[in-house]
Amino acid sequence: MKFKTLFAASVAFAVAGTSLAHAEPQAEVLHWWTSGGEARSVAVLQKEFASRGGKWTDMPVAGGGGDAAMTALRARVLAGNAPTAVQLKGPAIQEWYEEGVLANISSVAKAQGWADVLPASIAGHMKCEGKWCAAPVNVHRIDWIWANAAVLAKNGISMPTSWDEFNAAAAKLQAAGITPLAHGGQAWQDATVFEAVALGIGGPKFFQKAFVELDQATLKSNTMVKVFDQMRIMRGFVDNNFSGRDWNLATAMVMNGEAAFQIMGDWAKGEFLAAGKRPGIDFLCASTPGDGFLYNVDSFAMFAVDGSDKTDGQLLLAELIVGKNFQKVFNMNKGSIPARVDVALDDFDPCAHTSAQDMATSNAGGSLLPSYAHGMALRGAQAGAITDVVTAHFNSDMSSADAVEMLATAVTNSM
Ligand code: GAL
Repeated sequence: MKFKTLFAASVAFAVAGTSLAHAEPQAEVLHWWTSGGEARSVAVLQKEFASRGGKWTDMPVAGGGGDAAMTALRARVLAGNAPTAVQLKGPAIQEWYEEGVLANISSVAKAQGWADVLPASIAGHMKCEGKWCAAPVNVHRIDWIWANAAVLAKNGISMPTSWDEFNAAAAKLQAAGITPLAHGGQAWQDATVFEAVALGIGGPKFFQKAFVELDQATLKSNTMVKVFDQMRIMRGFVDNNFSGRDWNLATAMVMNGEAAFQIMGDWAKGEFLAAGKRPGIDFLCASTPGDGFLYNVDSFAMFAVDGSDKTDGQLLLAELIVGKNFQKVFNMNKGSIPARVDVALDDFDPCAHTSAQDMATSNAGGSLLPSYAHGMALRGAQAGAITDVVTAHFNSDMSSADAVEMLATAVTNSM
């Protein structure tokens, strides 16, 4: 890898660049927020950046969960032409830092007192060897179940509070000709459902052992067999056209009553809201059955780039991202809650209030856990190894016993 040399060269250029005439702050921003709700949310940042004289070059890479965006990022960095700001999160921030290609944004973090307004768990993800290297945007929750209110009412069904209740409700809906579970057959969506099921069936300690500590005995346990059993049941509740479907199209199926439920992070709420649907009236939100809270913190990392216009752009972006107004307006659109602890939630919807309350309770009770499916718990290789097995199982008639064996082996081989 030539990253270290490349980083040194960028720094040299950046320093030389400061003596040049002052140009408007620039930012080329790589992100994967292309659905209706996501685009509406990122537009808040574009607008704030422009209002401060910044020139934003948009680099959207479509594909929920960001796999395609991460492939595009790697190509750009390898070509020696990294974007200025990149939607990046969790351990991936550290992985890129280790490549020597991230910029240090500590000056903004210190000036704005980030350490005082961000929870320690979130701040930890944003620091690289003590220096601030990323700016957090939000807290998304993964373990949500969304439902079409009218469809449930018509079929005499309330939000399930156990997986048995979910299965019974789904069977009843299926008999009534409604697709019980709106799902898109993409690996990251399979993983999203899987981790919510694993948390629900195994509980927070099991989740921690399996997907944070990668404990072999837990990966091969009878409880994990039960998790795959439930995944097999759920495979029977999706429609025939699920393969490859984008997550927002699955959300649309719930909106229009073609399907009853979707298990998805709360960016799905951003989609409902963007379509003018009202929480508690048109759609319902509840945590998936079981205890705990799976968090997913979106953030932007700044890459080492040449030129004071770009470095100014990075610092301005970082300042805006953690700014109070942005954290409020963006998250009201995005479906998440602010990363900052001092943003009032009065104007947020009831689902956001549930999220904030559950997050506090889980934090106090030791069941606030990082999402493995959304890159918060594990490095890419380990998370990828797990997801490959989840998807292989979901899309075949593999037994649960074979799946757990394969899971344990795949994790070992990925280390
Ligand atoms: C997640 C990301 C969310 C949302 C979702 C679907 O990984 O954290 O912000 O955009 O993907 O694209």
